[in-house]
Amino acid sequence: MSSYDLVVIGTGPGGYVCAIRAAQLGLKTAVVEKRATHGGTCLNVGCIPSKALLHASEAFQEAGKHFADLGVIVGEPKLDLTKMMAFKDEGVAGNTKGVEFLLKKNGVDTYHGTGRLAGAGRVEVIAEDGGNQLLETKNVVIATGSDVAKLPGVSIDERVVVSSTGALELESVPKKLVVIGAGVIGLELGSVWRRLGSEVVVVEYLDRVLPGMDGEVGKQFQRILGKQGITFKLSAKVTGVEVGKKGGATVTVEPAAGGEAEKIQADVVLVAIGRVPFTDGLGLETVGVQTDNKGRIQTDSQYATNVTGIYAIGDVIAGPMLAHKAEDEGVAVAEILAGQSGHVNYGVIPNVVYTFPEVASVGRTEEELKKEGIRYNAGKFPFTANGRAKVNHTTDGFVKILADADTDRVLGVHIVGADAGNLIAEVAVAMEFGASAEDVARTCHAHPTLTEAVKEAALAVGKRALHI
Ligand code: FAD
Ligand code: NAI
Repeated sequence: MSSYDLVVIGTGPGGYVCAIRAAQLGLKTAVVEKRATHGGTCLNVGCIPSKALLHASEAFQEAGKHFADLGVIVGEPKLDLTKMMAFKDEGVAGNTKGVEFLLKKNGVDTYHGTGRLAGAGRVEVIAEDGGNQLLETKNVVIATGSDVAKLPGVSIDERVVVSSTGALELESVPKKLVVIGAGVIGLELGSVWRRLGSEVVVVEYLDRVLPGMDGEVGKQFQRILGKQGITFKLSAKVTGVEVGKKGGATVTVEPAAGGEAEKIQADVVLVAIGRVPFTDGLGLETVGVQTDNKGRIQTDSQYATNVTGIYAIGDVIAGPMLAHKAEDEGVAVAEILAGQSGHVNYGVIPNVVYTFPEVASVGRTEEELKKEGIRYNAGKFPFTANGRAKVNHTTDGFVKILADADTDRVLGVHIVGADAGNLIAEVAVAMEFGASAEDVARTCHAHPTLTEAVKEAALAVGKRALHI
């Protein structure tokens, strides 16, 4: 029987990063993955393929709508969806192979099959052909991620009624796409298909898009997506989806508060109402690992479960379901297991929606600060007043910085705008260092860049923005 210091179950961003860091720190490490390729949801059916299609569909739209404004005449662009999907698949393969290479380079042993807890210090690997292997280990890190949340009574066939996985693989552009859920997946993948020509209707249970993000950001973002042709039905719930015999589906929608139902015809329906922790087949019960009322594995601040030697990280535990959160937890738990003091600052985890424009936020929203009774000053700067955004014709959106009224410490930053996902990084670093808005405002920012909007928003906290 092979024997290890650490066996990691699942090689998504949490698991593979944990294994690499553990190996770097001298722990004899193995990973167990049931998929044929490493990288988990993120690399195979999540972050990477969705960003590939967002990139390609944006290029298609730009070529059709905006190139002529720049004096670039290319004629009417034509869509070759098969080629676009091949471009996406190539990106996925490049990334998953990269993980395989990194695991090998760091001396991590890899096992393919379903990992199952098999009593204290043991993990059983059950291969697809039924064969099994037993691994002995001092520690186990569970990094089995999450799965699509199902809508009761609606079955996903990944052809007409799809999850994000099916929406990344459609063989033709649906004439009409109904998206259930105005969260990150709904708006990113809704944008992809809208740009490629679908009529897109988003049905959302709450009265706003992107719940959890800053309210002002949500409102402006919805307006911008509306201008792009996406239609929203807010405060509405889907009560049924009936797939037609000749294809397509009828979606029954009711006001969330109750009332008369309406029926919407769709060629494809995307169910994007969240994700749930994935622990099927793991054998948690065999060793008594505790889960909470949402099925998440319960851990303490050191990622330890209630069972000695068993830890958990990533989407399968509490916290935002984000790849970088899973990665940072992977590093932290590996360092803890190696006797160091790894930790994650949950107050500074950026959150990005990769639409056009992008939405990015870090720290607390205005709603949260109000709820917590924290006095703050807000500084806001619109991209209409930023020279680079003006010349690029990307003036939609703004930067908003929220700083403590007494100490001026930056508490939250919220951006709607081109490249917001990159812009947020500087304020995340600033917040890690406990910066004040004044610190950001007094930092020299290159001209002409979009980052000047961040500096101006910081100046605006002290009511002294220069360009507005
Ligand atoms: P996962 O990536 O889910 O990996 C878990 C792995 O464990 C899987 O490979 C699974 O096969 C394996 N596994 C499960 N059970 C077993 C078992 N018993 N034995 C062996 N292997 C097992 N996040 C971002 O930060 N940015 C984005 O842009 C982004 N885009 C996304 C787009 C989509 C469409 C989706 C669905 C998600 C997106 N996410 C994004 C979320 C991101 O994918 C997850 O937060 C991230 O993958 C979580 O990492 P993880 O390691 O916890 O789990
Ligand atoms: P989500 O939690 O972001 O959004 C789900 C939305 O569906 C919410 O607005 C919710 O109110 C709504 N909803 C729930 N039940 C509903 C119903 N019955 N009818 C209508 N609306 C309903 O979940 P989503 O978009 O599925 O994404 C899952 C996870 O994946 C997210 O937690 C996110 O963190 C991660 N992800 C991250 C990305 C990124 O970082 N760019 C991209 C894609 C996913």
